[in-house]
Amino acid sequence: MKSYKAKMVEPIELPSREEREAALERAGYNAFNLDARDVYIDLLTDSGTGTMSAEQWAAMIRGDEAYAGSESFARLAESVRDVMGFEHVVPTHQGRGAENVLYGVLLEDGDVVPNNSHFDTTRAHIVNQGAEPVDCPSPAARDPNSTESFKGNFDIDAGYALVEEVGADAVPVVVLTITNNSVAGQPVSMANIRATAEFARDIDAMFVIDACRFAENAHFIKTHEAGYENRSVAEIARAQFEHADAITMSGKKDALVNIGGFAAMRDETVFEHAKQRAILYEGFPTYGGLSGRDIEAMAVGLREAVTPPYVSDRVEQVAELGDLLVEAGVPVYQPTGGHAVYLDAGEVFPHIPKDEFPGQELVCALYLEGGVRGVELGGFAFPGTDRPDLVRLALPRRTYSREHLEHVAETAAKVMDSAGEYGGLEIVEEPPMKELRHFSARLEPVSN
Ligand code: F0G
Repeated sequence: MKSYKAKMVEPIELPSREEREAALERAGYNAFNLDARDVYIDLLTDSGTGTMSAEQWAAMIRGDEAYAGSESFARLAESVRDVMGFEHVVPTHQGRGAENVLYGVLLEDGDVVPNNSHFDTTRAHIVNQGAEPVDCPSPAARDPNSTESFKGNFDIDAGYALVEEVGADAVPVVVLTITNNSVAGQPVSMANIRATAEFARDIDAMFVIDACRFAENAHFIKTHEAGYENRSVAEIARAQFEHADAITMSGKKDALVNIGGFAAMRDETVFEHAKQRAILYEGFPTYGGLSGRDIEAMAVGLREAVTPPYVSDRVEQVAELGDLLVEAGVPVYQPTGGHAVYLDAGEVFPHIPKDEFPGQELVCALYLEGGVRGVELGGFAFPGTDRPDLVRLALPRRTYSREHLEHVAETAAKVMDSAGEYGGLEIVEEPPMKELRHFSARLEPVSN
């Protein structure tokens, strides 16, 4: 049952087939290059694209735009203390700003940083500090059909194997990303959060949580981990952070805002250093690149994210989209994660070789058939890896209705019906940094 209704609406329109074909050609077969007005259902990301509540909009009027010592900052700090249990907060313009601030303080040349799976900006900021990011995903993550509940977990054995190889001194930080965006939005269990914290303590490393989707993760713990069924999401959310030394947060996810983020930590010295770095890259440490009104919206959104029934509605809607797609015969990574449904393009288009980007072709096909925009997270986005060719359909929070989801499933079903007619793509233009190519490269259908 939905616990909200619309208070403000935005018109959307499905362009004609001919218009979609022309738009896709103009975009160089890359959905990032499409104009949003040419998209009917936009599932490119759940980041900053959701709907704010009336309470959040109301709070924005209260925004204190003082350069230093803003009251809005004090309210954010109080929310972070209440909801996440951290005493010290450094606001930043978004999640990657928090990564820059925190990892700039904690890392140096030659360090090695394990994570259940690094998100691309986390990876890039760690590399930018001269350190090496290493993924330690749970072995269960590799099987798209296993319905195990916590496929986002950190593989502790892989962590110890890494330490054995590089030495504990080289590993000053252990990171855990909840939920695990790079592994189909799969959650991490409380038992695994504790085990990862113990691993970090054992090797004398700091334990950092990438907290972007912490409320969704808490919901999965409540519904799937024994012993938590009678605890509230708010209690579980806080318990997740009990053993963490610091967090990085993108407010654009589970703080329910369009822009904003922060780093939070317990250690006074790390806090002082982070503030200095924030002044350099983000702004004075009580505004961090944000207006007071943005900070107000984030302070309210953080509390809403753990207030029932927001998050159960949220995760259930993602599962609903997953179910509709499965019913339509579309291969879906199982189980559905917290923020998105991931489609297996390798199975949709078995006749398209990996180097002709079946995932990117699926993104184009979904747009052509129904004006739906998703994102490829396989061989095109991650060159040189053997990642499966997944396409992510991320749901913005509190935004689309059942009819929109049905349209997405019908569109995917149409693609499945004519799958054999789709061919591969080749890159015709790409930026110098290959790792960033999926944001701007141009492609063309392979001519056979
Ligand atoms: N960490 C994770 C796990 C993320 O998913 C993201 C962003 C970030 C850090 C960086 O946060 O965008 O506020 O700077 N993920 C978005 C996505 C962009 O589409 O998955 P940011």
